[in-house]
Amino acid sequence: MSLAPGAVIGIIGGGQLGRMSAMAAARLGYRVHIFCPEADAPAAQVAAACTVAPYSDHAALARFAGAVDVVTFEFENIPTESLALLASRRPVRPSPEILAISQDRLREKRFLNDCGIATAPWRAVEDADGLARAVAELGLPAVLKTTRLGYDGKGQAMLRDPGDAGIAFAALAPRPLVLEGLVDFAAEISVMVARGADGAVVAYDAVENRHKHHILDLTLAPAPLPVELLSEAGAMARHIAEKLELVGLLGVEMFVTEIDTLLVNEIAPRPHNSGHWTLDACPVSQFEMQIRAVAGLPLPPATRHADAVMKNLVGPEDMALWPRILATPGLIAHHYGKDEARVGRKMGHFTRLFPRGALPGAFGIEDALRLR
Ligand SMILES: Nc1ncnc2c1ncn2[C@@H]1O[C@H](COP(=O)(O)OP(=O)(O)O)[C@@H](O)[C@H]1O
Ligand SMILES: [Mg+2]
Repeated sequence: MSLAPGAVIGIIGGGQLGRMSAMAAARLGYRVHIFCPEADAPAAQVAAACTVAPYSDHAALARFAGAVDVVTFEFENIPTESLALLASRRPVRPSPEILAISQDRLREKRFLNDCGIATAPWRAVEDADGLARAVAELGLPAVLKTTRLGYDGKGQAMLRDPGDAGIAFAALAPRPLVLEGLVDFAAEISVMVARGADGAVVAYDAVENRHKHHILDLTLAPAPLPVELLSEAGAMARHIAEKLELVGLLGVEMFVTEIDTLLVNEIAPRPHNSGHWTLDACPVSQFEMQIRAVAGLPLPPATRHADAVMKNLVGPEDMALWPRILATPGLIAHHYGKDEARVGRKMGHFTRLFPRGALPGAFGIEDALRLR
């Protein structure tokens, strides 16, 4: 199946990822129909149509399926039954099976380890006794996480000494949980990979991600790390896409350990915040690549014509800087159309480009981010 211009791409989820996908789809001549529970969502503002209904509303989902040619998503926490309903009526890309793996940290880790890919050491935790056993086996510090519904560090607790276990266990739901050994990482990196309906796989260069309060703050493209390590990261992401028989786009988050080994942290079968730099530094962005894969179009190479730094704009503090961002030469500004700048809410981002190979070091980056 390859969609002709004028076809309708259905996107589940109405956030900024859907907004930027919808803009990429429009450029290729497609119409986008958003399905999300909120009125006036960032994606709906730039889409041809929007259904506002809960993700569990089967009648609304059935009408939506009838109005679109293919379904994709920008949001992972879609109920299984809702996806099954959509998949019974229209192609869903990436497949519901892939989403089910990425929705559940335990399935995700089992899948990755079964593919021969290393993760942080982990144990499933069903109850308090299970947590005590997991702590004894993995040692501390460790991170206790919910298996479902986590994002931006929510649904996680750090265990530093055995006394932390009881409180953390009581605070986290739903169960089961997963305990992960704390990785003393040198850097966090990610790779965006796409696979087309014809099986062709393309991967963008690996980038470094720096977080603030568990929310992505900066992405450096390419990651300032040895090239062998970056090509290994790319090969791992391709391998995962192939094993999943992905049709669509996938973000692969990894830790680089102190001894330069790679551990996969999590996968996300959708555009990813750490791929926003591709909008400005690549001829074909992650959003266009996703739309091409979902629409059955050929995938062009994921080439990069510039180095880039992407800075997220989060909450009221960063949005107060918006006029200065607009007034600073060289910053490429992106606003997500959200009116309420709540604490921790991603409101926009900006990118600064550098000639290929000229990404500056730490001081240079600080300088490049300075506003007028
Ligand atoms: N096992 C771990 N060791 C070290 N740091 C971790 C570990 N798990 C998570 N983190 C840190 O917390 C961040 C968020 O965790 P992650 O599992 O990616 O959840 P999410 O992105 O869904 O909130 C990671 O990017 C990393 O900085
Ligand atoms: Mg993450």
